[in-house]
Amino acid sequence: MRAATMTRQRDPEELRVPRDRFGGLFRDKSWHETPAGSLLDTPAARAWLKLVSEGARAGIYTHQPPLEGRSGPRVEVDGHSMLLLSSYDYLGLVGHRGIEQKAVEAVRRYGTGTGGVRLLTGTKELHRELEAAIAGFKDTERATVFSSGYLANEAAISALFGPRDLVVLDELCHRSVIDGCRLARVPVRRFRHNDPEHLDAVLARHARDRTIVVVEGIYSMDGDVCPLPDIVNVKNRHGAFLMVDEAHALGVLGRRGRGSHEEFGIPSSEVDLWMGSLSKAIPASGGYLAGRGDLMVYLEHGSAPFMFSAALCPSATAAALEALAVIDSEPLRRVRLRRNADQLRGGLQDLGFDTGKSASPIVPVIVNGVHAALELARDLWLEGVMASAIIPPAVPRSESRLRLCATAAMRDEHIEQALAAFAAVGGTRRT
Ligand SMILES: Cc1ncc(COP(=O)(O)O)c(C=O)c1O
Repeated sequence: MRAATMTRQRDPEELRVPRDRFGGLFRDKSWHETPAGSLLDTPAARAWLKLVSEGARAGIYTHQPPLEGRSGPRVEVDGHSMLLLSSYDYLGLVGHRGIEQKAVEAVRRYGTGTGGVRLLTGTKELHRELEAAIAGFKDTERATVFSSGYLANEAAISALFGPRDLVVLDELCHRSVIDGCRLARVPVRRFRHNDPEHLDAVLARHARDRTIVVVEGIYSMDGDVCPLPDIVNVKNRHGAFLMVDEAHALGVLGRRGRGSHEEFGIPSSEVDLWMGSLSKAIPASGGYLAGRGDLMVYLEHGSAPFMFSAALCPSATAAALEALAVIDSEPLRRVRLRRNADQLRGGLQDLGFDTGKSASPIVPVIVNGVHAALELARDLWLEGVMASAIIPPAVPRSESRLRLCATAAMRDEHIEQALAAFAAVGGTRRT
């Protein structure tokens, strides 16, 4: 018997419908049956359970799809091949043989866990090698690695600032920076997104002795690039410090992927604190801070995540270290990434979709309202395409969207399939 005839033939429509990810939890029970006085008797829990249960019942819940193998332009989900359009794997390094090899070697040599926090017994020589490589990459004196980018942001703000200081955020800064501010109980002011003139006005009015401006190299939801030279001029005029979150910029911006300072040709030392993630263009996990040596040494003793959370595991540390070398040795990946991003963005614009201010591999498709985003994701799913719906609190309700990410691993046929799917489901969602 041929293999094809051995597998059960299923109705193609049945195959493509997003599956129930909750084991039938909401089939017979609805969210509003949550008993009063229970742990879930809060406005936030009620709102989420309503959205999730209704979404699951209506078949528009496409979050948490369990991938059956590595990430890439094509992935296996529920036994089916899908086109993945929302991966952070910008340089297509997930599955890179050399990187995987180093991760496997690290497991053989150091084991699967570190058995400690960085400050005590969790530091391996690998961590130090990675930190030296990051410092070299960012042209700083020292870098310090944390077990996630989220924790790196939280560590920096909460260890360095307090109620007498001021943090001035671009209004689109990531949640991890905001949570760091909450932890620090530091006053926060926001300036209009990517608007140095407004930053100038906010600083003129509110700056304190110790004020830090926080921006992102590439904004994670909109995919536009920070005008760093203008921001640097403004913060210098007011004597403020500057922190740049490069979660999405490392490996992507700059001729050699060094990030924002290379992209704009400004000295790295203009930025007091660089932050980055090891889970996006770098196919591992973890995060880092980089800057002056004494600043990093302080953060290694004065920030809670370095002392109270387990060290980054050896496989991720080794993978990140090797990925930095690959970013250097395989520059064509960045060329392909830019070409793919331009093709995807341009194609969507030609089809009439609103891609906002995207100027990077992150390409939003903005629709009006939460349900519109969830339904668009579901319609694409039915076409065999996975695209993440982004809804509040990550973005305002009226700017709910799909967030697409181009990667260097995409081939022409993937982008063609993506655009054909959008053309098929477009309807009234075009601008
Ligand atoms: C701008 C930004 N900063 C920080 C983070 C947190 O990084 P990590 O995923 O490594 O925790 C993210 C994650 O997506 C992000 O988009």
